[in-house]
Amino acid sequence: MTRHDLERASPQVSGGVDPRESSLEEAAAEAAELRPEIERHNRLYHVESRPEISDSVYDALFRRLQALEAAHPSLATPDSPTQRVGADPLESLPSVAHAAPMLSLDSAREPAEVQRFDERLRKALGDEEIRYILEPKLDGASLELVYVEGVLERAVTRGNGREGEGVTENVRTIPTVPLRLREDERPVPAFLSVRGEAMMYLSDFETLNQRRIEAGDPPYQNPRNATSGALRQLNSRITASRPLTVLAYDVMVVEGVTFETDSEGVAALRAWGLQTPERVTEADSVDEIVAYHRAFDADRDSLDYEIDGVVVKLDALAPRALLGSTSHHPRWAIAFKFEPRKEVTRIDRIFVSVGRTGVLTPVALLRPVEVGGVTVSRATLHNREELERKDVREGELVRVQRAGDVIPQIVERIDEEERERSDPFAMPAACPSCGTEPVEKGPFTVCPNHFGCRAQLKGRITHFGARGALDIEGLGEETVSLLVDEGLVTELADLFDLKEEELVPLEGFAEVSARNLVGAIEERRRVELARFLVGLGIPEVGVAVARDLAVHFRGIEAVRAASAEALEEIHGVGEKMSAAIKGFLETPDVREALDRLLDGGRRFQFVVPEATEVVVEGGWGGRTVVLTGTLESFSRGELKKVLEGLGARVTGSVSRRTDFLVAGEKPGSKLDKARRLGVEVLDEEQLRERLEGDGRVAAGLPPSEAQ
Ligand code: IVH
Repeated sequence: MTRHDLERASPQVSGGVDPRESSLEEAAAEAAELRPEIERHNRLYHVESRPEISDSVYDALFRRLQALEAAHPSLATPDSPTQRVGADPLESLPSVAHAAPMLSLDSAREPAEVQRFDERLRKALGDEEIRYILEPKLDGASLELVYVEGVLERAVTRGNGREGEGVTENVRTIPTVPLRLREDERPVPAFLSVRGEAMMYLSDFETLNQRRIEAGDPPYQNPRNATSGALRQLNSRITASRPLTVLAYDVMVVEGVTFETDSEGVAALRAWGLQTPERVTEADSVDEIVAYHRAFDADRDSLDYEIDGVVVKLDALAPRALLGSTSHHPRWAIAFKFEPRKEVTRIDRIFVSVGRTGVLTPVALLRPVEVGGVTVSRATLHNREELERKDVREGELVRVQRAGDVIPQIVERIDEEERERSDPFAMPAACPSCGTEPVEKGPFTVCPNHFGCRAQLKGRITHFGARGALDIEGLGEETVSLLVDEGLVTELADLFDLKEEELVPLEGFAEVSARNLVGAIEERRRVELARFLVGLGIPEVGVAVARDLAVHFRGIEAVRAASAEALEEIHGVGEKMSAAIKGFLETPDVREALDRLLDGGRRFQFVVPEATEVVVEGGWGGRTVVLTGTLESFSRGELKKVLEGLGARVTGSVSRRTDFLVAGEKPGSKLDKARRLGVEVLDEEQLRERLEGDGRVAAGLPPSEAQ
């Protein structure tokens, strides 16, 4: 029965006296009656699907409560159902620590892996009888809900597992999340932290997308993206208009009650009014787990929500504590994933793309097909060997999947007996960009014309300006392609000679964008040496090695002049890497291009971290750190001294050059800025781990350091 069916049968709600004329006491008493009543109907409708009153009666009750609260603002409480319509927009989402770490799950794809998991548990737990809980692995967004004295106090996204984004206002708008826990079946705890999955039912998702298409907005790719987007809105009124739901599956922290098993905890969650996953069962053998997995997989397409596997958890909580967790996942649970979804489509064409290092990659252009909610229209075939192994040809039917449910992959060719096969695709005899004859390097086919090949030049320039390197705003792939094709840039040094008036006439440019690009390039004349080294694309040199090279050699010419032995003094640089670095830097074309780029030392001002005697492993040497907020175990002054003692530079404001932001309580705007710039944020706990890891500072600080 829906609320509409109830329309006629429903009692009428008396309007009552005008709330503006009722006394505060009268209004308070009425509101106190209305709230649980409205929440009860809300639950009957959304959670239990057995409404007792019609929509119009519900609306009347709701409006009455709104009117009472409007007339007497002091009556409004955070658990009032009126809070579900959304609050004023926020400027940014605050970062909030979790009550307990929100770990990930280890995963298995094969029954044999589950078998090993079971064996490990049995071995560790001795004779104990083992009972597992099996449940669907919901494919949404993980969320923590915290209830204090039964009232929803905060909701936090998973984030990095230690802290996430505070999305309380948004979560208040989700009808299946109780704002106040029920206490008719069992008393509510003083503190409760629950983990669950925010998600959208597929039918709701379809309706939402239909609405978006009608309004001219782009539809969402899949329910998971739509869910995270809705959850992270700054304006909770928007969230309120999205059909979200939350299924709770784990008691993370509870005070005042002790559960012996997971099942007891989940039963309590249900009694408190939270919704929990369906089809949860028990099992005590791997065979049963495999059967459950198979049955759920078979039903996957008929469910109204997305799942990507089943979760197997040890039911008893005491042995869980015994088994413990790694920093990533608990040892008492495993996600038994499904095979990725596969679809069949045809290869329209195979083409070859040329990357920064000259590697020729065959790519299949596919007739667009939807795979698990995402449209796939191309898939890499990696290299010559892979192409031969898969033996797929133009025009042929293939099965595609998304690896890790993300990157499109061709799984296999589908035989069509009656169809004559086209010729095998052969790697080209000439580089499609510059016409040079490619050479074979293991499974790869490489264009050796590194300095004359336009595609490689484009790749190099794009890489130089990319985020991890010089981070030049506005110098994306398309712009680079345009600059090279127009002949304005023939090597890296040319970037620094670009003039606004040359850019303005180009397609897609106007005065402002031209000025911005020239300005953005100009700004990078002052650059961190490590970023510059990354930008050169030296083989084998990633961010960490680039930093170590910068801190150790302190200048580009010193890096260029370094002998193999000198390079190998750096931690993590072995013979192979030093040879690769030297080989690259000594290539005549590289030398020449670098000479031009450096312009006799006049072009760049390299920023090198303060002198550090010792580069502490995994540590602070040369890192720029900013401190913000209140820390529990040290004052900022103390911490600054310690970090500087370890070779870090502690500065006052966050910029792109900041390596870490250490954020304590009430961090303020620096945290937002760090997030925006992608600067790594450490909380106090992570800071301690790092300090302890350095072996220089034990937990806490010597009292002599205190200020
Ligand atoms: S239990 C520490 N149960 O899957 C164990 N997780 O990496 C707590 N997930 O993002 C997780 N359905 O949010 C558990 N029934 C379920 C789940 C589930 C989905 C998510 C979880 C996490 C991911 C595992």
